[in-house]
Amino acid sequence: MSVDIVERTAPGKVILCGEHSVVYGRPAIAVPVGTLRATARVVPGPVGSGLHIHALDLNQTIALSATGTSHPLAKIARLVLDTLGVPEPDAVLSLISDLPVASGMGSGTAVTVAAARALSASLGRPLPPETVSALTYEVEKIHHGTPSGIDNTVIAYEQPVFFVRGAAPETFRIHTPFHLLIASSGIAASTVGSVTEVRHRWEAAQSYYNVIFDCIGAIALAARAAVEQGALGALGVLFNENHGLLAKMGVSLYQLDLLTDAAREAGALGAKLTGSGQGGNIIALVEPERLDAVRLALTSAGATATWSVLIGT
Ligand code: PMV
Repeated sequence: MSVDIVERTAPGKVILCGEHSVVYGRPAIAVPVGTLRATARVVPGPVGSGLHIHALDLNQTIALSATGTSHPLAKIARLVLDTLGVPEPDAVLSLISDLPVASGMGSGTAVTVAAARALSASLGRPLPPETVSALTYEVEKIHHGTPSGIDNTVIAYEQPVFFVRGAAPETFRIHTPFHLLIASSGIAASTVGSVTEVRHRWEAAQSYYNVIFDCIGAIALAARAAVEQGALGALGVLFNENHGLLAKMGVSLYQLDLLTDAAREAGALGAKLTGSGQGGNIIALVEPERLDAVRLALTSAGATATWSVLIGT
């Protein structure tokens, strides 16, 4: 089966409000981060070679025929080929990403989405976002057994998403573009570890955690309205409240609290951890004239990297 030379990309993402409680059916909102992306490129391979997948960031090459489906890249390739009903092509699929790993920015998900987009397009049958999202969800299950589906949805649709597990995803309009400063704690975040810990705590004290989840769900709803109305001051307050509840849930860390405090003290409208927590990144909502001061404060408070991104353009 021959392939065309094709390159496709996929964005990173940040969850604005609602991580963790979204696993328990409460709403969450997330936005794509278009300036940090994963890239997938397909080129024809020698006749009879089959599909080789080259993960450039990991310096790893696998042959599809020799790799089991517990490997995420082999899994997405097989899912795409099975969905299209085509045999394995003679090709090389190369993957590279600008996104930091294990930080809550959707690095693994973006690589999977880019791979699905590129492989299907190289076979002349690009898959639509809903199919790419559904296939990517199957791969997400390798990383943790009960993904809510928010990461694959926001990245595959590449739109702001209001997400409730089990319901059709809704996109929404960003009234006024806003700046986020994303800052890394330098500590690797494990989605599966954090989600599993929250599950154990919830099993031990369901009514307590259900109240926290309900409050965060209400925050996500209010945050969607704030984004739709351009009420950025209100959005900042909601970030702060959401962070406090995530800390009560036990998924913040001293280092993440230091970063969120530093951002607020330097004039951010609000700040919170984003993604699974226990490491990874925080996001701070910052007016343009405060960006330099907040970035400096974050670096002084221990951020190992910062990214300034404009959301909603
Ligand atoms: O993988 P992360 O760090 O972006 O976290 C995903 C968000 C969680 O709500 C913690 C898990 C999920 O499946 O929604």
